[in-house]
Amino acid sequence: MAISQWVKESVGYEIYPRSFYDGNGDGMGDIQGIIKKLDYLSDLGINLIWIGPFYPSPLDDNGYDVSDFMNVDPQLGTLADIKQLIQKAHQLGIRVMFDFVMNQTSDEHPWFIESCQNKNSEKRDYYIWQKGKSQNRPPTNWGSFFGGSAWKYDKQSDEYYMKIFSDKMPDLNWSNPKVRFEMGKVAKFWLDLGVDGFRMDAIAHLARDMKFVDSKKKKIDGVVGDWSKFSNRKELYTYLKQLHQEVFSQYNCLTIGEVGGGAKIKDALKYIPSIDMVFNFDACWCLTADNKVDVMRLKNTINYWITNSLKHGIYLPQYWLNHDHPRVMSQYGSQKYFKESGKALALLLLSLYGLPFIYNGEEIGMQNALYDKLSDFKDVSSQNYIKLNAHRLSEQEMLNHLRNNSRDHGHLPMQWTSEKYAGFSVKEPYLKVNLDYQKVNVAQQLQDKDSILNFYRQMIQLRLNSKWSEVLQSGDFELIESQHPQIFGFRRKLNNRSLLVLVNLSEQDTTYSVAEGEIIISNIDSHKPHSLGAYEGIIMREQE
Ligand code: NOJ
Repeated sequence: MAISQWVKESVGYEIYPRSFYDGNGDGMGDIQGIIKKLDYLSDLGINLIWIGPFYPSPLDDNGYDVSDFMNVDPQLGTLADIKQLIQKAHQLGIRVMFDFVMNQTSDEHPWFIESCQNKNSEKRDYYIWQKGKSQNRPPTNWGSFFGGSAWKYDKQSDEYYMKIFSDKMPDLNWSNPKVRFEMGKVAKFWLDLGVDGFRMDAIAHLARDMKFVDSKKKKIDGVVGDWSKFSNRKELYTYLKQLHQEVFSQYNCLTIGEVGGGAKIKDALKYIPSIDMVFNFDACWCLTADNKVDVMRLKNTINYWITNSLKHGIYLPQYWLNHDHPRVMSQYGSQKYFKESGKALALLLLSLYGLPFIYNGEEIGMQNALYDKLSDFKDVSSQNYIKLNAHRLSEQEMLNHLRNNSRDHGHLPMQWTSEKYAGFSVKEPYLKVNLDYQKVNVAQQLQDKDSILNFYRQMIQLRLNSKWSEVLQSGDFELIESQHPQIFGFRRKLNNRSLLVLVNLSEQDTTYSVAEGEIIISNIDSHKPHSLGAYEGIIMREQE
């Protein structure tokens, strides 16, 4: 599917709504909060936002457990607020994408309640029910993404329902045409309200192995983490094709499906006739054993996806992190070279081939939270980790793990000012703010001309509104200094115009051999020819 020109001319920004800005002073971010900050986003220069789930939800999994797909969680606002948000964003030239949660509902969704209560109801088959193998033994040995079995026993009907995430998130049965019809209605509802597209949650899992046979792979903690039983299976491409024909093709919308870590280019190409793009996780977690960025792996991974995108005529999103990941500054950046590394990551991201997405807080270099109590970690997967490991690991070991790995870092309240609660709210936020907010916040960086935030702005300008925009948006991509263990370098070329991008992703100075050119942008004051200091990044115009 050919990608619309406007997509190439976009820079995206993901908003995690409960942690972005609290507009009504109850300690949780909301829709009015987002509306209040749209001018900030417009000033940053982005022109596309993806807003995470804001639907009614018991919040077992941060809103991905939806109890009403066509409404707004009253704690976050109303449908009128959503309309206002879309309208104001459009006035500012910002397109809006919502998160379309497709794989599951909450167990408090009326469909599931009816499904449990009445085996003869048509809603029974909206979910995946199976008899246990025997007493206390689920239908299969499959594990779930959040730990434990992929099945949950329901006493009332003496059967198990499938749930590949948490117990409170029963999986929808997409093999049932009625489910597909209902979910198509959900998409239409939001498109008719004016939204410009969707990030489609967990679409890789919509089809499962309906033979329900045990996996032969190795068991760990009593279950088998065999994602092939419910990932990238062929039936799901038919479901997406139908959705495209009946819904998406009727609108000028952008669809980006989350396909996770298992997908390769051949899988991406199977999705793309029905949706525009896929998000995979390959550029995340490229870390060495001592938790430093693994430069070789990172650049080879990105190179794999970009060269294949160019070869097959597709365009894919690029991002360092989303709401499921720790902060990129704590993974690929440096405490010691805070500013340099934050800017180096901006320079890289915004000069790649593909649609860049910035994650809220990335533009000021937000870092992982150094919480000192296990109870500060609230995410369902962090809590499950604690439950599963409490008998074998010390508190300190679990803390160390969560400080590097928890999804809570991605959920941290946005650090707007140095005031109490980081200016996120006037009330104690639902999730503790990070301790560094007095040093790392938007207000301070708006004032500092040399801040990470202002560098993001400059890079976005270069990408969208400069004489180099076309080269950055559409030019070819070729790795340079490809065997260099510290430098991520590449050439972007369109017709006879070409740029060289060179970034030292380490704390040690280093040298490179490509010819010098005129410097277009750099994250340090003075560049020495053929050398890059710690986290120095430059873009040079290559001599013709
Ligand atoms: C992927 C989402 O990004 C994640 O946050 C969520 O927990 C699962 N899908 C389940 O919806």
